[in-house]
Amino acid sequence: MKYVVLSPGRINLIGEHTDYSGGYAMPMAINLYTRLEASKFEIVELFSEHFMEHMSFDPQKQLIKTGRWIDYVMGVYKVVHDEGMDAGGMKGTISGNLPVGSGLSSSASLELAILEFLNRAYSLGIPKLKKAVLAKKAENEFVGVPCGILDQFAIVFGKEDHAIFMDTETLEYEYVPIPEDIGIIVFHSGIRRSLSASEYSKRRKLVEESLAMLGKTSSKYINEGDIKKLPTEIHKKRMGYVIRENQRVLAARDALKEGDVELFGKILTEAHWDLAKEYEVSCGELDFLVRTAGELGAYGARLTGAGFGGAVIIIANKEKVGEISRELFMRYRKVFRWEPEYYFVKASDGVGLFGGAGHD
Ligand code: GLA
Repeated sequence: MKYVVLSPGRINLIGEHTDYSGGYAMPMAINLYTRLEASKFEIVELFSEHFMEHMSFDPQKQLIKTGRWIDYVMGVYKVVHDEGMDAGGMKGTISGNLPVGSGLSSSASLELAILEFLNRAYSLGIPKLKKAVLAKKAENEFVGVPCGILDQFAIVFGKEDHAIFMDTETLEYEYVPIPEDIGIIVFHSGIRRSLSASEYSKRRKLVEESLAMLGKTSSKYINEGDIKKLPTEIHKKRMGYVIRENQRVLAARDALKEGDVELFGKILTEAHWDLAKEYEVSCGELDFLVRTAGELGAYGARLTGAGFGGAVIIIANKEKVGEISRELFMRYRKVFRWEPEYYFVKASDGVGLFGGAGHD
């Protein structure tokens, strides 16, 4: 029997770099997908249309990292086996329209596609939250990326036309409807996120250190007064950003609920400049896109994901997204001599079987 799994990518509307300090975030799954078409098999044999290559391994043998895309598949097998679950092999093709390596979580999307297949084909009975936790574990422990749970959570819990307001400490969440007149553009700068691995780890270490020094379990419990107790300027600068960002997520959620799209956009743009100046994870290309989108009449724009390149999201009136993106494309091409890619996206259901109930 053949299974067809659709696993979305994600954007984070707001709440950037808050998930490794137990803060708030508001991501959504998007209608750009990793598509996995596969059947049970003795070993794992997969073809990646993106990389145009076949790779295979025996999941019953010791799994050794290769530094290639197959590591995301191996990582999932590793965590599933570590749980004592019995998952056999698979043969199939990975394709889809989710751009790889653009900050839209193509890696988490692939891991969850594999996990969804194993869950269905081998009747593993893994509940939703556990899927997100296992995919994160594969990324942290096998692939070796010290990410938080934002991406995996959004890909599992995505819901059509809704953002997911989440507390990354308790993992409680609430669906917030996205007003119908909002259009969302994902604009890829074309800049590879080369610094992101080392700089991401540095930011994370500093935030964890700060929490430990203040004796707090989450950045939600830190206030301006606490920041003054931190030992260095850089600790103060970074943590100042984190506490303001937590507050912005709450304000953005409320603005969305009230349908105040102008305020929502304004909060997003404010978040971008705080990320750029105080958290220092932006770059000239992303700043250009955010600034120009504002000049062209968008409600707001900001980088999404870890930063250091990748994509910005632009929130605008639905009727204006075509015009804004065309103009932005031309201005970007002129300044940076690069033809950027852009996508109009919608909030989508989480990972599931193609044609199935979506997020069951
Ligand atoms: C990456 C990580 C997430 C999160 C964001 C920043 O996407 O995978 O866990 O930390 O960066 O918000």
